[in-house]
Amino acid sequence: MFAISGCQITAEIYSGINTVIYRAYDSVRQRQVIIKALKSEYPTLEEITRLRQEYAIVHNLNCEGVVKTYSLEKHGNGLAIILEDFGGYSLDRLLASQKMELKEILRLAIVLAETLGELHKIPIIHKDIKPSNIIINPSTGQIKLADFCIASRLDWETPTITNPNEIVGTLAYISPEATGRMNRSIDYRSDFYSLGVTLYEMLTGQLPFPSTDPMELVHCHIAKQPVPPEEMGAGGQRGGGAEGQRGGGAEEQRGRGEKNSQSSIRYCDEVISQNC
Ligand SMILES: Nc1ncnc2c1ncn2[C@@H]1O[C@H](COP(=O)(O)OP(=O)(O)OP(=O)(O)O)[C@@H](O)[C@H]1O
Ligand SMILES: [Mg+2]
Repeated sequence: MFAISGCQITAEIYSGINTVIYRAYDSVRQRQVIIKALKSEYPTLEEITRLRQEYAIVHNLNCEGVVKTYSLEKHGNGLAIILEDFGGYSLDRLLASQKMELKEILRLAIVLAETLGELHKIPIIHKDIKPSNIIINPSTGQIKLADFCIASRLDWETPTITNPNEIVGTLAYISPEATGRMNRSIDYRSDFYSLGVTLYEMLTGQLPFPSTDPMELVHCHIAKQPVPPEEMGAGGQRGGGAEGQRGGGAEEQRGRGEKNSQSSIRYCDEVISQNC
């Protein structure tokens, strides 16, 4: 039975391999909260370390575009993070239930590019940008990043070569360098690549590389170009092609420095004024 003093669970909103996410009411502080708890009765040291690391990275961050953490609590033999509940749900759920307007997709792109720009100045690399880690409240328009369990407080990092099934991150959204097979370090540009994959998916309704085979996905990210969004035919949103494709393209297509996020934002602004 779940027991964190003062918190009454109102709903289970996600159950993954290692974690379970609840909506709850903290009657001591009188506020709605989200609880991210380790699922296993006897969590491994690695699971505990990841949750601690997530808390250490996000706690004390003063960034509007990131889900706030309130506290790290003992939970049975493991831990749980108490997070802000701003009445949102993840972008993957939103995309499964409705089609987003182009204007809304571009607003989301601008907000996320700005948030990543802020994080990268700290410096923090998120390393797992994807729809299920983006939380949205459609009524208030708030858009926030969640799930910093593999993030790092570094300017750059050297990934290790592992079996594709063991690569840290999510293969459908991972940048070529994060696969560990490019002999290049990971830096903030990896997050923009994954944001590009996310935008491509929102614009076209499909991933740039829809394979489910881990080795093939790694090969696609490193060596292939996705079909441009404007060529995706019926069902694909038109008008945001270049931005959506930027993330799903070759390493060489990506800009350098702050120019990357700035040009993304300018591009989105242009498209909004031309199309909406
Ligand atoms: N603050 C929040 N508000 C609303 N929903 C949330 C919030 N935080 C997490 N969730 C929901 O819980 C899901 C899992 O959260 P999170 O990604 O932090 O856990 P995880 O164990 O790291 O998941 P995974 O390993 O699948 O990435 C999210 O995709 C989202 O649906
Ligand atoms: Mg997640």
